[in-house]
Amino acid sequence: MAITTQQLIQWKQQQRPIVTLTAWDYAIAQLLDAAGVDIILVGDSLGMVALGYETTLPLTLDEMIHHASAVCRGVNRALVMCDLPFLTYQESSQQAIHSAGRILKETGAQAVKMEGGYPAMVETIARVVQAGIPVMAHVGLTPQSVHQLGYRQQGKTPEAGEKILLEAIALEQAGAFAVLLEHIPAQLALQITQKLSIPTIGIGAGVHCDGQVLVTADLLGLSSRQPPFAKSYANLQETITQAVQEFSGEVRSRQFPSQQP
Ligand code: KIV
Ligand code: NA
Repeated sequence: MAITTQQLIQWKQQQRPIVTLTAWDYAIAQLLDAAGVDIILVGDSLGMVALGYETTLPLTLDEMIHHASAVCRGVNRALVMCDLPFLTYQESSQQAIHSAGRILKETGAQAVKMEGGYPAMVETIARVVQAGIPVMAHVGLTPQSVHQLGYRQQGKTPEAGEKILLEAIALEQAGAFAVLLEHIPAQLALQITQKLSIPTIGIGAGVHCDGQVLVTADLLGLSSRQPPFAKSYANLQETITQAVQEFSGEVRSRQFPSQQP
C-alpha cells in the first residue's frame, strides 16, 4: 500500500518521524523504497547532482518528468513527490496547475513541492490544492532564489524568523499537506513544528522537525559539493574510484576476464 498524505499527518500526531530522501533514477528509487523510506522526493537538486548544472535554475519540466517517471517505476510503497522546477509555477496559478498536473499525469508521482511563501505562493498553492493536487510547501532557504539569498541560513533575526513562521501558517491554511524547512535555526523550526498541525520536514533545521530529508548523493558520499548540515553515511566516491581502478588494473594486466571459455 502506498503511503498517503493523510498518513503523514497521522504520523505527526503519533510523533513517528518521517524519513525522506531524494532520488533521480530507477535503481536508487528501488533501493530507497525497499529500505522503507517514507517519502521519495525527486528534488530539483537532480539538476546539480545528476545533470551537472551550477544551480537548480536551468532544470526544465521535461527533464524533471523524465527522471520522475524513472523513479516512479521503481517505487511501490513510498509517497513520490516532485519539485516543480524554477519558473514552471511562479508566473501564475494557472501555470502552476498546468505544470503540477503534467507531473501527476505523466509520471505517477502523488504530490509536488513548491518553494516560497507570502503572498504569491500562498495563493498559488491554494489554487493547486483546489485542483486536487497535494502540495508540500518549502520555506527558509529556497535554492531557486539563490541569486537573492545565496545559500545562507535564513530566519536568523527575530523579524526574519517571525516572517517564516507566518508564511508556514499561511501555507498550512492554503492547504499544503506538509512544509519543508531548509537551513533555519532549530529553535524556529521547533516553534513552527509546534504551531502547525501538518508535518514539517527539515534539512539543516535541527532535530525537532516531524521528519528529516537529505539529498541522497550527500547521504552516500557521492557529491562533490555538500552543504555543511548534510551528513554522509557512506563514502561511495571512494568505493567507486577503488572499483574502477581495480577493473582498470585487471584489464591492463589481462587478469580480467578470467581464462574460462
Ligand atoms: O531538491 C532537493 O533535493 C530539495 C532538498 C531540500 C531536499 O528540495
Ligand atoms: Na529542491
